[in-house]
Amino acid sequence: TSNQMWGGRFADKPDAIMEAINASIGFDQRLAAQDIAGSRAHAAMLAATGIVEASDAEAMREGLLTVLSEIEGGTFTFSTALEDIHMNVEARLKEIVGPAAGRLHTARSRNDQVATDFRLWVRDQLDAAEAQLLALVRALLAQAETGADWVMPGFTHLQTAQPVTWGHHMMAYVEMFGRDLSRVRDARARMNECPLGAAALAGTGFPIDRDMTAAALGFDRPCANSLDAVSDRDFALEFLSVASISAMHLSRFAEELVIWSSAQFRFVVLSDRFSTGSSIMPQKKNPDAAELIRAKIGRIFGAQVALMTVMKGLPLAYSKDMQEDKEQVFDAADNWLLSLAAMDGMVRDMAANAPALEAAAASGFSTATDLADWLVRVAGLPFREAHHVTGSLVAVAEARGCDLPDLALEDMKEVHGAITEDVFDVLGVRNSVASRTSYGGTAPDQVRAQIARWKEILG
Ligand code: ARG
Repeated sequence: TSNQMWGGRFADKPDAIMEAINASIGFDQRLAAQDIAGSRAHAAMLAATGIVEASDAEAMREGLLTVLSEIEGGTFTFSTALEDIHMNVEARLKEIVGPAAGRLHTARSRNDQVATDFRLWVRDQLDAAEAQLLALVRALLAQAETGADWVMPGFTHLQTAQPVTWGHHMMAYVEMFGRDLSRVRDARARMNECPLGAAALAGTGFPIDRDMTAAALGFDRPCANSLDAVSDRDFALEFLSVASISAMHLSRFAEELVIWSSAQFRFVVLSDRFSTGSSIMPQKKNPDAAELIRAKIGRIFGAQVALMTVMKGLPLAYSKDMQEDKEQVFDAADNWLLSLAAMDGMVRDMAANAPALEAAAASGFSTATDLADWLVRVAGLPFREAHHVTGSLVAVAEARGCDLPDLALEDMKEVHGAITEDVFDVLGVRNSVASRTSYGGTAPDQVRAQIARWKEILG
């Protein structure tokens, strides 16, 4: 027998291999709740516009709830012969409510149906990501507040550069995840248009009310062009793009946590709850969650590249290629949300080692720039000359195996006669960070001002 949904013009049934390559039910069953919400909105609209009898629409709407409870309860039998979630739901609806179910697909196509379902699903993921990003930002703010004036080394090229504060470093990530948050909101606002009613591609002659279905599903408005409505997957690509950038941020932070938790750095202690042990080396406490977060960008950005490549070159309107959108987005969403949750947990639990941070901040001639600045300010040297003099002082300290504050005043005077006792004030790391008072700088007062600003933004 041929297909019960579209078998009219077919004499033969599909080859098993055709069915295998064609069916999406193995993964698009994740759209069940969205599919049923869309169908319920569509049925209500068909009744309100007089396209179907109110009693038929009511039967369909009730029956759809039964289907949903069967799916959620795990008693629903998915059929590969029915290809996808849309036809599986409709076929079961027919068993439950009888011939009235056959009226549900009036003025609708699977093309606008799947576009609607998928938008609803992606929108839910953006909402979940927003909540997760907010939690992570709050966890970072708490870390920043605790260590607003703990001094640590700031790096460029992963070489000691200048002292910064723990609070400042945490707040850098607040800015990054804060931008992710605003990208999530932008993407959500842009995608929130409803494709339902575009039908196959050209719209429909039935007197449908697209504003009604759009509003019922929480969309701001219907999509304005029926061809675009069924062809567009920008919402999925934008989701993947937002997720990729955010996963890249997570990956950078994860890399720092891996480095910081090592025996060589000892900047942070990760909690047992977010670490693992070794089956052979009894002393090990490994930062596996951080490493996995560091890696997740691979599949998330991979999904973006994959879907972009699927979409390029597709003529308008729908092509079956577009069925390949879902697994990429599902996988990226799952892994992004999991990474955000894991990072939130790690940040909440992690304990910075303030003495180790400060000791590290004081090594590696981290206040050399402060010394050069002092020579400019107090001794009136041009910066280039001050830079050179300071470089010579670093060389002297290096030869002695000591740090800049350990040099004797006489040794310094030998390099440049204008140096006085006062210079030692700027060689300490605390004075160094306290002096960086420019807007957005690492001075604890500046950091506290940024913490206060973010608390106000978050409300
Ligand atoms: N399973 C399909 C997909 O995910 C639904 C749309 C099918 N439309 C069609 N004309 N074959 O894209």
